[in-house]
Amino acid sequence: MSKSRVYVTRIIPEGGLRLVREACDAEIWEGETPPPRKVLLGKVRGIDGLLALLTDRIDAELMDAAGPQLKVISNYAVGYNNVDVEAATARGIAVGNTPGVLTDTTADMAFTLLMAAARRVVEGADYVRAGKWRTWGPTLLLGHDIHHATLGIIGFGRIGRTVARRAKGFEMEILFYDPLVSADDPEAQALGARAVDLDTLLAQSDFVTVHVPLMDETYHLIGTEALHKMQPTAILINTSRGPVVDPEALYQALKEGEIAYAALDVTEPEPINVDSSLLSLPNCIIVPHVASASIATRTRMAEIAAHNLIAGLRGEPLPAWVNPEVAE
Ligand code: DGY
Repeated sequence: MSKSRVYVTRIIPEGGLRLVREACDAEIWEGETPPPRKVLLGKVRGIDGLLALLTDRIDAELMDAAGPQLKVISNYAVGYNNVDVEAATARGIAVGNTPGVLTDTTADMAFTLLMAAARRVVEGADYVRAGKWRTWGPTLLLGHDIHHATLGIIGFGRIGRTVARRAKGFEMEILFYDPLVSADDPEAQALGARAVDLDTLLAQSDFVTVHVPLMDETYHLIGTEALHKMQPTAILINTSRGPVVDPEALYQALKEGEIAYAALDVTEPEPINVDSSLLSLPNCIIVPHVASASIATRTRMAEIAAHNLIAGLRGEPLPAWVNPEVAE
C-alpha cells in the first residue's frame, strides 16, 4: 500500500523526523527560514498531512490549496495561533499541537529572564566584555531582589503555575490573574497564590510575567494603559506571544521610567527588526523565541508532532488534539 504524502515545513529534531519518514512519503523543507508563502502553497498540493511550525500561516487558502484529501495539520508548538482551527474543523481536518512537554522548559526560561533582568546579567556581561571592569564598585550595576518580591502571573495555566512553583522556592508572594481559574483553585491555594484582578496585579507586582495564548482578547493586553498601572521599579517578562505586548508602548514605558526593565522571549514582529527602538535600550533583554529550546524538550515536541501527524493520517485520535470535535 502506498504511503500517505506529507509535507514538513522545516527540519525538526531527528527523533520526530525519523518517525515521519518511516510512516510517510515525506517531503521536508530544508531551508533555515520558513518556506515562502508561494512555495508552501505549491508544496502542499495533494498532501494528506502537514507538519507545520509557528512561523507558517496555515489558513483556509492553504488548506484549499492542499485539497480535500488533507486529513491532518500537526503544529510543532503548543501555541496554535498560526493555524485557523475553525477553518480546519469546517473542512474535517484534525489539528494537533505539542502541550505538556515544554511546560517546565518554558517556565525555566521565564524565570531565567526574570532573574537576568532583575540582576542585570546581560548588562554585566557586556560591561566586562567592553573592558570596563576596573574595580569592585559599591553601586555598580545595582539590581532588584527576587527573593520575597511579589510576582504577578497573567495566565495561570500549565506554564503560569509552573512558574509559580519556581517562585515559591524564592519565597515570593504570588498573585495571579486568570478569568478561567477560580480563586479557590487547589494548586493556587497549595502555592499560596492569590487570585486578583488585572489592575491589582499590575499595581502590586514587582515582576509581571505573561502566560496567555494570543487571541483577540489578549492582543496588546500589555499596552500603554496597563504599563501606566505598573510600578516604576517593575519588571515585565513575556514568554507567551509577542503581540500580547504592544512594542511601541513598551518602548515608551521603559524609556520614560514607567517600568524598570523588560525581558522578552517573543516580540512583535518576529524576528524583531534590528532597527527596533527596543534594541537601543539597556533595560530591555530580548532573546529569539527560545523558551522551549532545550535539546530534550525540542526532541519530545518533535515526537509528539510526529505522533499527531501519523494518528491523523490513520484516522485515529491525535495524542494532543486541538479540535477533537472533527471526529463528530
Ligand atoms: C510554543 O510551543 O508555542 C512555543 O512558543 C515554541 O515552543
